[in-house]
Amino acid sequence: MFTALLLEESGKQTQARLQRLNEHQLTTGDVLVKVDYSTLNYKDALAITGKGKIVRQWPMVPGIDYAGTVLASDHPDYRIGDEVLLTGWGVGEQYWGGLAEKASAKGDWLIPLPPGMSAKRAMAIGTAGFTAMLSLMALEHAGITPGQGPVLVTGATGGVGSVAVLHLIPICTRRRC
Ligand SMILES: NC(=O)c1ccc[n+]([C@@H]2O[C@H](COP(=O)([O-])OP(=O)(O)OC[C@H]3O[C@@H](n4cnc5c(N)ncnc54)[C@H](OP(=O)(O)O)[C@@H]3O)[C@@H](O)[C@H]2O)c1
Repeated sequence: MFTALLLEESGKQTQARLQRLNEHQLTTGDVLVKVDYSTLNYKDALAITGKGKIVRQWPMVPGIDYAGTVLASDHPDYRIGDEVLLTGWGVGEQYWGGLAEKASAKGDWLIPLPPGMSAKRAMAIGTAGFTAMLSLMALEHAGITPGQGPVLVTGATGGVGSVAVLHLIPICTRRRC
């Protein structure tokens, strides 16, 4: 048994409750993960409050990302005890997500936790931070370099923009990456 935040649809309302669930209800994939950390994303808030059409299957465990430890695996790339992270892939929307003590994932969706990075740190960066990095890489791919002058970050108070301003742009400017 494990505890999860479960969303159920009642009428047109979303009801969110902490519930005890059975591992047999975790049917998504071939890797069972003990979730150590998840990020509370804007999309999760929309799903939990029912204010956005995020959930595509009911009932749903929200949480579009998580980091944790493999408890069981039928996937060739993962063994018990491996530290992994997941972001996206419809998790928390179509497949049960990370706001739970345990989650089932397709091994192909998982990424081994980078050496030296804790699960807590990975989820502090979170999907928003990951998206900020993807945005920066897209700029690099387009040939933008620090020597070309200042960069304007729009939406800088938001999840993606604040990570870009606080962490990525200063680091990349110093390192000239
Ligand atoms: N977070 C993720 O993991 C993720 C992943 C993939 C893609 N995205 C996309 O990345 C974008 C930013 O996401 P986010 O999570 O950072 O969102 P967020 O936390 O809600 O931040 C949105 C930002 O946009 C600003 N903003 C909103 N409406 C605006 C307007 N009409 N004119 C100017 N600024 C406006 C907000 O300013 P105020 O604070 O002043 O309202 C805030 O700074 C979104 O398009 C989202 O779909 C996000």
